[in-house]
Amino acid sequence: MILVLNGPNLSRLDLREKSHYGDLSYPELREFVERSAEELGVAVDIRQSDDEATIIGWLHEAADKALPVIFNPAAFTHYSVAIRDAAALLRGPLIEVHLSNPLTREEFRHTSMIAGVSTGTIAGFKQDSYRLALIAMKDLIEKTQ
Ligand code: DQA
Repeated sequence: MILVLNGPNLSRLDLREKSHYGDLSYPELREFVERSAEELGVAVDIRQSDDEATIIGWLHEAADKALPVIFNPAAFTHYSVAIRDAAALLRGPLIEVHLSNPLTREEFRHTSMIAGVSTGTIAGFKQDSYRLALIAMKDLIEKTQ
């Protein structure tokens, strides 16, 4: 099981800048990720929260169960030391994903607290960032089996 965690404001993708985030609403993004996972033959558990503590709880769960995690921390990417510390507990691979490419955007988005504790980062491909992360994760899992 791959946990796919999404941070704050991603549930309102339909109201956010389409030029950065693409055309999909959050329910459509979920469907896209579910479909991509099915095509790749991997199981996913997709969750979203605006609440830092809830996300930290999910990272603890992933650490306890040694689950692989695909994680879009959204705005928490740029400032949450607590989320970084929780992500550092993980024992399976962690792929940081972003719909947009934060490095092409405002300077405050250029820092990722999570990148240093991630296996790798995929950013800038809109919804395809998640599909590419699933492909990379499947590969990582197969290599460690
Ligand atoms: C984001 C990029 C972040 O800078 C932003 O705060 C988000 C979404 C992305 O997916 O492109 O909420 O993580």
